[in-house]
Order: sequence, then C-alpha cells, then structure tokens
Amino acid sequence: MRGQLRADAQRLLRRPAGDGLARFGSIAELRERARRRVPRPMFDFADGAAQDELTARANVEDLAALRILPRPLVDVGEIDVSTTVLGRPIAMPMLGAPTGLTALTHHQGELAVARACARAGTIYIASTMASYTIEEIRAATDGPLWFQLYVMRDRGIARDLMRRAREARCEALVLTVDTPRLGSRERDRRNGFTIPPRITARAVVEGLRRPTWARAFVREGRLGPANLTGGLAEFAMEIDPSLSWRDLEWVRGEWDGPLVVKGVLHPDDARRAVELGAQAIVVSNHGGRQLDGAASTISALPGVLDAVADDAEVHFDGGVRRGADVLKALALGARVCLIGRALLYGLAVGGEAGAARALEILRGELELALALAGCPAVGRLDSSWLLDRHQERAG
Ligand code: FNR
Repeated sequence: MRGQLRADAQRLLRRPAGDGLARFGSIAELRERARRRVPRPMFDFADGAAQDELTARANVEDLAALRILPRPLVDVGEIDVSTTVLGRPIAMPMLGAPTGLTALTHHQGELAVARACARAGTIYIASTMASYTIEEIRAATDGPLWFQLYVMRDRGIARDLMRRAREARCEALVLTVDTPRLGSRERDRRNGFTIPPRITARAVVEGLRRPTWARAFVREGRLGPANLTGGLAEFAMEIDPSLSWRDLEWVRGEWDGPLVVKGVLHPDDARRAVELGAQAIVVSNHGGRQLDGAASTISALPGVLDAVADDAEVHFDGGVRRGADVLKALALGARVCLIGRALLYGLAVGGEAGAARALEILRGELELALALAGCPAVGRLDSSWLLDRHQERAG
C-alpha cells in the first residue's frame, strides 16, 4: 500500500510539464485560465477586438446560431477528419492563424504554436508581425509553414520578406488586405497598450501580479515584431494605407507559389482576387479587430463561396471555439478553418503543450460532432447538414 503510494507520488513528480492540461476540456476553460495567467494588457491585446467588439461577438454568435440536422443510422465507427489544402494533405481541417506579437501571450510565442501545429499534422501561418523571425520559426519546426504578408510603404521590405519566406520553405503566401490602418482597440487604449509595446510603470505593476508569466518574459521574452528590425523600425512597420488592387497584382508577380488573400467578405472582391491569381480566399474580418460592425464571417461565407468556389478554395476564419463550428463552416463549403485566439488561449496556459491541447480539444470535438451528425468524413459534409440551408433548398 505504502509502496504503491510512493510509486504514485514518484510518477506524479516525474510527470512531463504540461501533462495537467488534460483537465482543460474546452476552449472556454483554456481562455478562463489564460485570463488569470497573463497580465491584463497582454491578455486584452489577444482577447480583445475593435470598439464595441460587435463583430468579434457576431463571429461567435452567428456560428452558434447555425443549427445542424443530424443523420442517424450511419456507420460512424471510423471518423476521418483529414483533408487537403491547396493540394497538401493535412491531418485535420484547421490551420494556425497568423497572429502578431504572440510572445506577449507566452514567451515562446510562434515557436510553440508552430510546433503544436506540426504535431497536430497541420500548417502554421507565420505573421509578418511575429515575435520571432521566420528563420527562427523555421528552425524550431520541420512542419509545414505559410507566411502572412503585410505590405509596408517601402515595397523593398515586402520583397525581402517574400524572399525570406521562400528561403524558409513557406509553401504559400497569405496576403492580408483588411488592415490599411489598425482598428481601434479600446481595451488596448484603456490599458495604455501600444504597438510596438513599451514598458511602462503600469506594465511593470501588471507584470508583478502575474509573476510566472513575468519571470519567463524577463528571461526570454520578446517585445516587438522580430521580422522588421533596423533603424527605421517604427516607420518600416507602418502598413501602407494606399494598398490597392494593383499591389495585389504586384505581389502576384513577385511570389511564384500559391497565393492566399485574407480579409475578404464581399463576393465581388473574392472574385476579383481570384481573377488576379489568388488560389484561395480567407473569409475573415480579422477576428473583429478591424472594422467593428463588419459582417460576421459565417454570414459572409456563402456569398464568397457562390462567387469563387468553382475556381478557388475558400478558407474560413473567425470565431471558431468548438469543433461543431468547424463542421458548420465546412458544411457550407469552406475547405479549412483558421484558428486564432483558441490557439493563443492554449499557448497562454501551457506553451507548446497548451497550444497542442487547444488543437486536440477542437479535433476531438469535431470528431464527436461528425459522429453524432452521422458524417464519417469531413470530405462528405455539405449544406444538407444545416437546417437553414436545407429549408432554403426545400422551400
Ligand atoms: C491577429 N490576426 C492577425 N492576422 C493577420 O493576418 N496578421 C497578423 O499579424 C494578425 N495578428 C493578430 C494578433 C492577435 C492577437 C489576434 C487575436 C489576431 C487575425 C487572425 O489571423 C485571425 O484572423 C483571427 O484571430 C480569427 O479570429 P479568432 O479565431 O481569433 O476568433
């Protein structure tokens, strides 16, 4: 008995870091833990959105409002969530969304999230504004990477970033087009949070209230975006507000691999981007961080699909917090979903293992939702699984 107890205690002590993550059963639970672990300004930077956060909330709520029509008496003994994206096989229909300054959430930032995505058999999209350089992220993982590009005023910077992305074996370029100016993030303003962040007295006080995070940050943390350093960092970081369709043509000419355009909601824009050579459109409102009042992504998805689905892939982004959300977006016709904040909550809680836990939760929930909906493979999903669409067709 005593021996058994001692053996159990020893096993517990030997437990690898992050093993306790199994107790987090949903993205909402990870978020709640993240909120208590990360200093307020940093948590709000990741969790927050523009102004009244109407669009951020609508992303989540409109997904929740869609209703699934389950089909029983189907053999769901095996569930297949694997798919392909732009021709590349991936283990599940979810990609790591590009997020800037990810090391403010956890000191290992993009390195940890990229590794978690690779472990889950999927792609991570490294941001122009990442806390770690594209070379550092590539060195951290052999997994598949895409690179997300912001075009700065100085086109030489964009050209250089594309060259570096190519050299880091990024398989596709994701051009984000919804950020001619930064949206007004009122939580950031209230917290005195700026981009690039500055260490203020207030930040130090907040840091002291979250000592675990602060110790790691002081030891290994990163403050600003790493890809864009040099004397003129602040100027260089300014995204070009004059970016237009002609620049999309320019990027198309500079990048010879697959091109994905992220931040489109209007069907005509999706059509035009595809005509100019994009292979995929990410239906996105930047997680509600740009134009507050913009349409929720799930409400804009069908229009974009109608406009381009015959000629390009459509990827869904924004508000995914449950596996059933992925089912719904795919049933409407999206190829994959991008996962933004859900990964950051996991990252905050447990670094790489936490981000991996977030993906594991979403994958498990997707498998369960598919089984209960009577769909043994994501490739078989179509709009007949959704109540509204079904009624539309019938009516
Ligand atoms: C982002 N997003 C983003 N998008 C992008 O193209 N480049 C970037 O640098 C960033 N940075 C960024 C930072 C943080 C903290 C967040 C939360 C988001 C937007 C991101 O790629 C994605 O569109 C949203 O996060 C999707 O919404 P959900 O999944 O967070 O609801």
